Order: sequence, then structure tokens, then C-alpha cells
Amino acid sequence: MAAYSNKSIFVSAFVLLLLFVGAMAIVNDQPSNKLPKDIDGLNEHAVSNPDEVAAMVDMSTRNSTERRKSGEFVCGTGNPIDDCWRCDSNWHRKRKSLADCGIGFGRNAIGGRDGRFYVVTDSSDEEHDNPRPGTLRYAVIQNRPLWIVFKHDMVIHLKKGLMVKSFKTIDGRGVNVHIADGGCINIHNATNIIVHGLHLHGCKPTENADGDAISISGSSHIWIDHNSLSNCTDGLVDAVMGSTAITVSNNHFTNHNEVMLLGHSDSYVKDKHMQVTIAYNHFGEGLVQRMPRCRHGYFHVVNNDYIEWKMYAIGGSASPTINSQGNRYLAPADPSAKEVTKRVRTPSEHWKGWNWRSEGDLLLNGAYFTPSGAEATASYARASSLGAQSSSLVGTITAGAGVLGCRRGHKCY
Ligand SMILES: *[C@@H]1O[C@H](CO)[C@@H](O)[C@H](O)[C@H]1NC(C)=O
Ligand SMILES: *[C@@H]1O[C@H](CO)[C@@H](O)[C@H](O)[C@H]1NC(C)=O
Ligand SMILES: *[C@@H]1O[C@H](CO)[C@@H](O)[C@H](O)[C@H]1NC(C)=O
Repeated sequence: MAAYSNKSIFVSAFVLLLLFVGAMAIVNDQPSNKLPKDIDGLNEHAVSNPDEVAAMVDMSTRNSTERRKSGEFVCGTGNPIDDCWRCDSNWHRKRKSLADCGIGFGRNAIGGRDGRFYVVTDSSDEEHDNPRPGTLRYAVIQNRPLWIVFKHDMVIHLKKGLMVKSFKTIDGRGVNVHIADGGCINIHNATNIIVHGLHLHGCKPTENADGDAISISGSSHIWIDHNSLSNCTDGLVDAVMGSTAITVSNNHFTNHNEVMLLGHSDSYVKDKHMQVTIAYNHFGEGLVQRMPRCRHGYFHVVNNDYIEWKMYAIGGSASPTINSQGNRYLAPADPSAKEVTKRVRTPSEHWKGWNWRSEGDLLLNGAYFTPSGAEATASYARASSLGAQSSSLVGTITAGAGVLGCRRGHKCY
């Protein structure tokens, strides 16, 4: 003790206190000019308001599985995903709870749940090869997990496709975010992505993308929820090249020809393991075909609302298993387009063995589903991902499909 005077203990304690305060400031990640700049410049954008800081703390203590079971937030929309979070007027303080509300094959997608918040403040995409901090493109190319939110309403015109790296959530709740008339979202060779609450339209081919609204390739654990998608050059949601563990839920699709392609080509057998859940979506006006068009894998099409199609709703080739349960299919007036199903360029002696079934679907206005295959339970077990509800509830379940109106302190409607 002799070596340490009271004064030096006091000084050491003071230094420790300073270090502690500094560390807390970094943990809290609040913008402050006292902080050293984060090495990759993320710091000033990571969190811009106390709500989000609160949410970060909240995240580590909450247990949404328990909450969901206890029914604390069940709000009676009848939609199991929404009932998990949507009636909580404090949703904005608990944004990351959403990550535990997924169901279906993509239910384990955690997105950026275990990372920091990143606030997009800049809608530009001028320097797309060296994106500026504050832009969406800067956020999605980071290697670390991030939960990406937006400071205000914005329209983002991307010069080329947005290549999203693993463990990201893009969360448009509370603001109006349009990604339009240029590149859109590309999830290539990535895992754990959640895309929620975006308007995606007018997506066009660019140097690195085909013009899909959301293109998924070589990727897994993907959840696409509550987006409004329309009028793009290629598909609205395409998943190819060995992608799997995907849920496409609560989206609102309109004005588009080839809506959803699941499976790369008849000869690409890696897609044999693909499992995709298509649930609670609204297939609205101006859609033509591919809702979805499937190849090889296992597809659970459940409790969706189809209000019309010009050619067909569900198509496929290369022996996919299609489990259609509790959907509402409203056929168009055209007498030659009443069939829900379409086997693409395959003679019937070949498709007779494919496992396609319709269970509890509501077929309206002359709609008919042509089933095939045996009651192959093993096959349908791999194409079952959640409990279907009665087709009579589809209108209610899908009433909130597409981007929700969310305001802080209020339930999202
Ligand atoms: C959350 O609750 C579930 C079910 O009760 C339990 O298995 C799990 O361990 C809990 N997780 C945490 C982090 O407390
Ligand atoms: C994804 O991986 C495949 C095979 O490893 C590769 O050929 C392709 O270029 C990758 N795509 C991207 C966008 O990185
Ligand atoms: C779709 O986009 C094209 C331009 O890419 C535009 O001319 C057309 O009006 C749009 N259609 C609808 C229904 O929005």
C-alpha cells in the first residue's frame, strides 16, 4: 500500500470513472461529439434517438416466446404474425421483437436482431461504389448485424441492385419508404435477412440485377413481411439457386406479370431442398401469373387471398410439392382462365405423379384446382410449415397485407 498515496488512488479511481462513463457512452451509442468516431463511421448513424436505445436494452431482457404464449399481445387480428407484435402501441421501442414473430419455413430468420440500430438519413445513392454513411446501401454492405430503420419518409432510387449482406433487418415501420424506379433488393449468398414495411415498385434491370423487387439467390433464413410490391421488370419475389427456409407473408402484390418464381430451372436440382412458405398475402389487381411458379422443392401456400389472375395463380414444373391450404381463390371473369393451377410445358403423363393438393381452399367464381399425385404424406409433411386456418377467415387475416400505417405510441393499422 505504501506505494499508493491517497492522491494516486483518487486519481486512479477518477480515471476509472472516466473510462467507465466513456464505455457507457459507447454502449449506449448515442450521438455525441465527445465520442471518438467509430472506425467504420457507423457510430453517428447507429442510433439517433432514445427510443431505440431503450429498445436495445429491452431486447436483451425480453422473451417474446413466453410473451406470445401468455397471450399478452394477442390482439385478435387472427393473423398469428401480427398478433405477436402489432397491437403493442410501444412497437417502436421494441422493434427487434418482430424478429421473434416469424412463422413458416423462414421463422428462424433473425435479421439484425443481435446487432445495433442503424438509421438511414440519406436517400441518395450517388456514390454507389463507395456509399456514404447514412445511406441504405452503406448499411446493407456492413459485415456486422444491423437493424436498419429510417429517419423520415423517403424515396430511394438505387443506381444498381442493393446487395444485402447477412444478418440485416430492413424495417420501414413508422415512415413511408419507397425503393423505386431503379435497382431493388438482392439477397445473394446471404442468410438471416428480414425485409419489412417497404414499398417496392418500378424495379428495373441494372448492371448487377435483373429487375426483381426482391431477388433471393443461394440464401437461407429469409423473411419478407408486410411489403407492397408492384410493377417491376422481372419478378416481385424470386428465390433461386439453392435458396431455402423462406417465408413470404403479409405482402400486397399488384400490377405485375410474373409475380413469384421459386426455383431456378428444371435442371437445377439443388433447388430440390427448397422450402418456402407463402402465407397471408393479398394477390391483388393486375396480376397475371406465377403466384408462385414452383420448381423441385416444397411449397406451403396457406391462407392467401387471390382476387384475380389473368392466366393462372399457382404453377410449376420439375415435380414440386405444392400444399395449398385455406386460401381464397377468386377466378377472373374470363372463362378460359378459371383454373388456379398450371403445369408449365409438361405432358400430363409426367405431372400426374407430382404432389399438388388443395385442402380447405375456397374456390370462387368457377375457380378450380387440379390436384395430382398420391396422398403422399411424407412429401406433404415437408411442405407443411404452420397450421392453416379456415378459408372463411382469409379476408380478416389478410386485411392488413402490405405496408402498415405505424405511428409511435399507437398500434399499427
Ligand atoms: C424464453 O422462454 C422459453 C419458453 O418458456 C424458454 O425455453 C427460453 O429459455 C427463454 N429464453 C430466455 C432467453 O429466457
Ligand atoms: C454466390 O456464390 C456462387 C457460388 O459460390 C458464386 O458463383 C456467385 O458469384 C456468388 N454470388 C454473389 C452475388 O456473390
Ligand atoms: C409501370 O411502370 C411503367 C414504367 O416502368 C409505367 O409506364 C406504368 O404506368 C406502370 N404501370 C402501373 C400500373 O403503375
